[in-house]
Amino acid sequence: VVVASCTPRTHEPLFKRTTKEAGVNPYLLEFVSIREQVSWVHMKEPEIATEKAKDLVKMGVAKAALLEEGQEIRLPVKTDCLIIGGGMAGMNAALSVADQGFNAFIVEKEPELGGILNQVCFISHDNHKRPAAKVVQAKVEQVRSHPHIKVFIDTQIETVDGYIGNYKVTLKSNGDESRQNMDISTIIVSTGMQEIEPEGQFEYGSDSRVITQLQLDNRLRNKQLGDVKNVVMVSCVNSKNESRGCCNIGCHTSVKNAIALKHLYKNASVHILYRDMSLIKEEGTAQQLAKRLGVKFLRFPEDRYPEVRKENGDLKVNVYDLLVGKEFELSSDLIVLTTAFKGNDSVEQVKGLLKVSTNPDGLFQESHVKLGPLEFATDGISLAGCAKAPMTLKESSEAGIGAAMKASIPMQKGYIETEGIVADIDLTDCSQCGLCSKRCPYSAIKVDAEENPDVIKALCKGCGLCAADCPSECISIVHYSDEQVFAQVEAALEEGAEEKIIAFVCHWCALGGVDMAGVSRLQYPSNARLIRVMCSARVSMKMMQRPFELGAAGVLVAGCEFPTCHYIEGNYAAEKRLKRAQKKLVKAGYDPEKLWNVWCSAADGPKFANTMRTMIKDLKLE
Ligand code: FES
Repeated sequence: VVVASCTPRTHEPLFKRTTKEAGVNPYLLEFVSIREQVSWVHMKEPEIATEKAKDLVKMGVAKAALLEEGQEIRLPVKTDCLIIGGGMAGMNAALSVADQGFNAFIVEKEPELGGILNQVCFISHDNHKRPAAKVVQAKVEQVRSHPHIKVFIDTQIETVDGYIGNYKVTLKSNGDESRQNMDISTIIVSTGMQEIEPEGQFEYGSDSRVITQLQLDNRLRNKQLGDVKNVVMVSCVNSKNESRGCCNIGCHTSVKNAIALKHLYKNASVHILYRDMSLIKEEGTAQQLAKRLGVKFLRFPEDRYPEVRKENGDLKVNVYDLLVGKEFELSSDLIVLTTAFKGNDSVEQVKGLLKVSTNPDGLFQESHVKLGPLEFATDGISLAGCAKAPMTLKESSEAGIGAAMKASIPMQKGYIETEGIVADIDLTDCSQCGLCSKRCPYSAIKVDAEENPDVIKALCKGCGLCAADCPSECISIVHYSDEQVFAQVEAALEEGAEEKIIAFVCHWCALGGVDMAGVSRLQYPSNARLIRVMCSARVSMKMMQRPFELGAAGVLVAGCEFPTCHYIEGNYAAEKRLKRAQKKLVKAGYDPEKLWNVWCSAADGPKFANTMRTMIKDLKLE
């Protein structure tokens, strides 16, 4: 069955269901997008657009002729959930899981539950009578007294093996080195965050009177602050710049702590030096309260941060007040830096064990910002709280409950059905090099005693990295086999190849970008014939070269922007392969400059359209 209509990203599941209801195996369906890829983006050239639509349908038919029946894989899922990290997100997740009658196991590497809140004094501006310690204590009591929750403190995860419904986990106690083996069905990661300590900035590290917000919280909590008269807080330290966005909680924290200081030291002068105040409604009320208590707010420009210097042992802060248009000098006996955050120290280890992704700050990367904000690309592993991004207590607690709900769905159903788009190895020509097993981002290919590779279908996600890299070409991906892709290439280039570009586009962000260009009605040249693959990692060197052999004007490989590939690191693998392919093209006598790539987000419609325009110009196809 070939359906030529709108984008498969939204409508393919519906047509698959319909095909199934009609008694046809849904893997025998091929979807061709002639709305987002044709009618919406070539509106002013109806004839050329029609030719392109005909090509796309022809490509779909060529692939459909080679489609094979497939089937979903059904895996049983029991009711044991492991929660890594016992902060507020983790404890809320555990309670939500356990309240449904499932078993929750919290593993916390520290000697006590509570996470970063154990370093905080007050949780919000109006709660100075209810310290963070009390909030944690109440939650810990709920957790400890729940019959379905078991807590392991001072304990770390040593090994994780398996997949959803069938994880084998080994815990190792920090104290006595004892170990415990567990059978787990789902996992929630809630490892939390920590401050990024400034390096050599604002006299931090060289003068003990310069501290971070969390260190201030700690001192307030432990009543170790001593006497302070002049406090200056500096916001947005190492955040809101080219490499990092807004930290989300800095303004809230500085206002909350300024109020706490004013309650303690009525006559102290407290200044908050800020770039922008990002506060939601209730926090805006906090800012008003801070002002009433005498906290002074000074706004500085983003290209002129305050400067801290020492004069005769005194700390001085020079700040240019943007609103007054004048520089001020403030004396200070305590400077508090509102810094950015990064992932907890345990992130690298957890990332390696679970084979999931992080961003450059060591915060875990969700499977999709909008479509999968509480989970990883790996089935059965959810993500909660500040392990993903800095959050307020409220946000983090909500995220914990959300992650618990995600983990509970398969536990409630008792099974999970995964798509049958998986790798298949034909051992006839296998040289037993083991490359597939080494390269698989999900450890889904095991090598047996005879050194033969074997795909664990429940773990395989069908990214196609193994198939593209297999030197013996003996791995096929269901629904995206070499033959099917080559059939599409050949059908596309049957006529007028010299005017055409073959664009391999990953199903996730790159196709999202293509669709966004369509939805936005961005008009771009019609030369590209798109071939969908699940990940850019599926595009082998041969696939990059074949269009040139058939006379194509150019080839484009489009994938998700870094580091957001939906298959952990598929786009990195694709990028490396593209470089190798360019060298190979030179040897084969083709111009490597005609092999292009673009990495985009699902919102990057303009980027995709611009790439098409630039390509056409550079390839002299105008
Ligand atoms: Fe888009 Fe891997 S899923 S590049």
